[in-house]
Amino acid sequence: MMQIFSGSSNSSLSNKLVESGFFTLGGIELSAFTNGELRVRITEKRVESEVTVLQSLSNPTEQYLVEFALICDALKRSGASKITAIIPWLGYSKQDKVFLPGEPLSVKVIANLLQTAPIEKLYTFDLHNLAIMGFFDIPLINLSAKPLFVEYFGRLPKENLLVAAPDAGAVKAATQFAQELGADVVYLDKKRDLVSGNVTIQGISRAVEGKDILMIDDLISTGATLIETSKYLKDHGAKNIRVGATHHLYVPGVQEKLDNSAIDELVVTDTIEKPATTLSNKLRLLSVAQLISNSSLNQEKPISY
Ligand code: R5P
Repeated sequence: MMQIFSGSSNSSLSNKLVESGFFTLGGIELSAFTNGELRVRITEKRVESEVTVLQSLSNPTEQYLVEFALICDALKRSGASKITAIIPWLGYSKQDKVFLPGEPLSVKVIANLLQTAPIEKLYTFDLHNLAIMGFFDIPLINLSAKPLFVEYFGRLPKENLLVAAPDAGAVKAATQFAQELGADVVYLDKKRDLVSGNVTIQGISRAVEGKDILMIDDLISTGATLIETSKYLKDHGAKNIRVGATHHLYVPGVQEKLDNSAIDELVVTDTIEKPATTLSNKLRLLSVAQLISNSSLNQEKPISY
């Protein structure tokens, strides 16, 4: 069994990994000094030479990034020689381009910062853009939560089912997903204003009247993509709309907007911990714990969508 040391971002996923029987939880104390600086102390009596650190770079991203680096340094000084990082949600990964002149290539900066920590290998889930892998010099394994969605939505009747790709970036994943389910696919033409962030849907590849729609996306941030797309689809006659998204960033107020949207069911994973205050009847959670356990211990070939 591998020792896992958990940062404070997603202890419920760390606990699930321990429950899955492949990991043991390493002792660690996480607190802060009175001036606000983070304080980390490894309390584990016997630190293995190969260890795993789990930290999602969710909000507050900068705090979790520093905490991650401190944990890795503390582990190295406590005897670990090989550290594998599990960062289920790679913060800043939406900033994967210089969108407007004068902007940084933010995710490259995060990749550089992460690699100042003594890690040998990094696991993440459903990267926003596979080109991000090129920003890392260490091996980056991009796992996918799609098998969870295939299993969960596989129960739906196929005759009336259409898998929807909300934008150009989702086309490949949605097409593969539709093939796995044995369903047809519909593409939407989404435009986002780079300054306001407003989303508009400008077209659709086929009629959706009376169809059961299953939309697959990598992440929910402002919720604008899903809200506008589902409204467009319902306005064009779709019968019901289900969504599978790997990462829910739980931006304050967004779940409420999603609850009031045309979406009938929203399924996300636990790459980011759900805040206890986020309540919703539409929201279902699937855990990526088993996918991590299988991949990290059995050295399975990672699935990339
Ligand atoms: C777009 O390229 C992504 O796949 C997501 O659709 C998008 O980032 C979701 O962001 P938001 O929830 O802010 O529309």
